[in-house]
Amino acid sequence: METWDAITSRRNVRSFSDEPISPEHLDRILEAGRRAPSSQNTQPWDFVVVTDRAQLRRLSTVWVGAKHVASSAATIALVISDDPEPGRRVQFDLGQVTMSMMIAAADLGIGSGHAGVGDQAAANLQLGLPPGRACSFLISLGYPAGRPLAPIRKPDRKPFDEVVHRGTW
Ligand SMILES: Cc1cc2nc3c(=O)[nH]c(=O)nc-3n(C[C@H](O)[C@H](O)[C@H](O)COP(=O)(O)O)c2cc1C
Repeated sequence: METWDAITSRRNVRSFSDEPISPEHLDRILEAGRRAPSSQNTQPWDFVVVTDRAQLRRLSTVWVGAKHVASSAATIALVISDDPEPGRRVQFDLGQVTMSMMIAAADLGIGSGHAGVGDQAAANLQLGLPPGRACSFLISLGYPAGRPLAPIRKPDRKPFDEVVHRGTW
């Protein structure tokens, strides 16, 4: 897929088909995250990849908005320190990771969805995290159950001229 098509095709997919993601494609998505930029190149992340159906179902219960994790082919948990240094831009860094992974996935026709974490203790336990680490976000992945990814002509966004200011506000 062209880069622009991957960018314009990405949308939150919350219903996935049974088709698995090949290990090569999953590794490419993870590699896209590993290559993401971070403040002072601190790379404050680890990635835990979950593909086991029973584990995915359990993980989908950690937040009301994480239900789509249950039917995903794979979900990547973004893990950070549970006591991040004040002033560090860790959430910004994770945003860069997330978008890189999602665009890499879209490029392969693979859908992705964000999920936050409500029950922190349950998420950490289910992922077997060591002390001092916490799951910050989940990215579910899989082929869309219905509509395949295709460029979205009219995205649900504020108008271009409303948000773009040139030179001054
Ligand atoms: C920081 C962040 C947190 C989000 N958390 C969730 C979530 O917990 N569950 C969910 O289904 N979607 C979540 N989303 C997805 C947004 O609702 C979605 O990106 C937005 O509505 C725009 O839709 P689109 O991604 O399809 O363009 C999150 C997105 C972001 C950026």
